[in-house]
Amino acid sequence: MDRRDFVLGALSTSTASLLAPMAARANTRGKGPIPYGAAVRTDPLYDDPAYQKAILDYCQVIVGEGGLKWIDLRPDRHIFDFTQPDRQLAFAEAHGLEMRGHTLAWHGAMPDWTETIASAEEARNELVSHIHTVVGRYKGRIPSWDVCNEPIAERPTRNAPIRDSIWQRHLGRDYIELALRTTAAADPAARLVINDYNFEQPTDEGRARRKFFLDLIRDLKARGAPLHAVGIQGHIQSDTAIDRSGLTAFVAEIDAMGLGVLVTELDVIDKPLPGPEPERDAAVANIAKQFLSAIGAACRPEAVLTWGISDRFTWVPIWFTRDDGLPNRPLPLDADYQPKPMMQVIQDFTHSFG
Ligand code: G3I
Repeated sequence: MDRRDFVLGALSTSTASLLAPMAARANTRGKGPIPYGAAVRTDPLYDDPAYQKAILDYCQVIVGEGGLKWIDLRPDRHIFDFTQPDRQLAFAEAHGLEMRGHTLAWHGAMPDWTETIASAEEARNELVSHIHTVVGRYKGRIPSWDVCNEPIAERPTRNAPIRDSIWQRHLGRDYIELALRTTAAADPAARLVINDYNFEQPTDEGRARRKFFLDLIRDLKARGAPLHAVGIQGHIQSDTAIDRSGLTAFVAEIDAMGLGVLVTELDVIDKPLPGPEPERDAAVANIAKQFLSAIGAACRPEAVLTWGISDRFTWVPIWFTRDDGLPNRPLPLDADYQPKPMMQVIQDFTHSFG
């Protein structure tokens, strides 16, 4: 039995018949303006009226910045804590918003107990049971999942294109197909996405990431894996230009495979940009515009989401605090929920499609 058969062995034949690849939906999915959304934090969604208003004023989609990651869901091997995603989904459903699920298989945000997973069989069983439990709970209510997040190595090479993770260590790259097929079995109507970053960079790393990511999704398509779309995160490093032609060509190849494209985590890491707010906000907006237009030149994205909506709640200072000590300004609204030029760029882009 080769490794692939071993890894996929968890799926019974009846399940496998369910997973005959769904016809890839046309990439012109949706008409009219492209939906805009943002990653949300659960607490302000309920205790900050201005935050709620900002989300309701601008968003048609939300995704939990946390809540559906293993570290949030699985305090130990035998407990699932759905408090956060249940509250996020309750807000979304109360206000007619779509909610995306992020994420089922990732190297990051894994609870310590998962380090005790000691065999391929144990890894397969944990991944399959996790996905069935989580996706099954939200079947028909979360229509789009980041099934695999950041599967490509930081600096991929021919010999090591796939990022190290518990799943990759025990199951090899076949964990990706297993996660896709298991998610499709848990919710056959869900749209399954693989999500990654740094596709816009004009560097050897950026070119390698685009190449090895395309190799991965071509291989998955060839295997008939139920993959429907690609998430381009868009955490844009403002100290490098946008490789417009490289990004457009990359998106065109994805589109030509019949796969959808989403912008899933857009923000502009403004650490190296000038301090004064008007100048910095204008630079952030221009960078976002170049990024979005390079993608829009090759396809109609299914959605554009920013990773947060207000500078009040952003991950960026965790890693990219500014040397001048000024607060980061990576998102479309400022810390007082006032729109910045970046929000106008996003609105112009999403409405430019009809
Ligand atoms: O909630 C705890 C808090 O109780 C504790 O006091 C504090 C101090 O350690 O940690 C808090 O949890 C933090 C959590 O964010 C909530 O704010 C974690 O330490 C921190 O690691 C976690 O970081 C998140 C990171 O993913 C890892 O899950 C970021 O907010 C989130 O923006 C980031 O998002 C990722 C995407 O999932 C994938 N793409 C890249 C993106 C940015 O790194």
